[in-house]
Amino acid sequence: MPAAKKITAAQVRKDFNDLRAVVHYAKAAHEIGLWASERLLIERHFTAKTAPLLEAGCGAGRVCVALHALGYANLTAFDFARELVDQAAALAAERGAPIALHHADATRLDAHPAFQAPGPSLPAPRFEGCLFLFNGLMQIPLRRNRRRALRQLAAVCRPGAPFLFTTHDRDHSPAERASWRLEARRWAAGKQDPRLREFGDRRFSDDCGDTFMHLPDRAEILGDLAATSWVHAADHLRRELGRENAAVRGFSDECRFWIAHRA
Ligand SMILES: C[S@@+](CC[C@H](N)C(=O)[O-])C[C@H]1O[C@@H](n2cnc3c(N)ncnc32)[C@H](O)[C@@H]1O
Repeated sequence: MPAAKKITAAQVRKDFNDLRAVVHYAKAAHEIGLWASERLLIERHFTAKTAPLLEAGCGAGRVCVALHALGYANLTAFDFARELVDQAAALAAERGAPIALHHADATRLDAHPAFQAPGPSLPAPRFEGCLFLFNGLMQIPLRRNRRRALRQLAAVCRPGAPFLFTTHDRDHSPAERASWRLEARRWAAGKQDPRLREFGDRRFSDDCGDTFMHLPDRAEILGDLAATSWVHAADHLRRELGRENAAVRGFSDECRFWIAHRA
């Protein structure tokens, strides 16, 4: 039997360009918009409405288009799935939101003309805030690549810039902890899903297609921030911030919000 292929970034990108995923994220961008928890933290930490903000992994524009509606006036967003960027551009045009949208990879921002180090007369880095919402950072296979993305985002942000992102949390409930104890035994016995790269990875299929996700514990993210020019400021499980409506709960499950500042 041929060996199972390990998950790669190219596979993750293919999954997000799949029609089922495109429809799923476009529908959420049109119909759901910001979650109550996202809005609360954005309004708490991103207080300057005219500051240049960067959204990574913007998908079909759910967050950046909603930010424009909240009055944020200097928005740049990017995603590495071309089909989703096209959806975001269409929604931004429909809602009259002048957002600079790019097709770019968070792990290779330095290779993209819109994010390359500017010339000597231009100030660098330029963004005064950054967001990577709904777990996009955790859909980058391999910790070293997630750290690379964190460094690349830090490189385009000014010192002090807030960074808001989400992850799952392997420890968020007794059931989750029990399932990861079982998974640890599988890894110890070499019986894990052979497509996975690291403990904490998951690959699953549902009606919006195939999904790769890395689920960290809290210590892992604290270590990643400290290693990549971000200073941890706070983190909260979503349930600690209030209750989401049924549409949001249908679209997404529990996650941990992280707020850090550019060192
Ligand atoms: C779960 S979706 C969330 C999309 C959107 N932020 C939302 O909340 O509806 C995660 C997004 O991260 C993007 N993504 C994953 N890895 C990326 C990378 N290396 N560079 C840029 N975008 C990436 C995916 O293409 C996808 O659009």
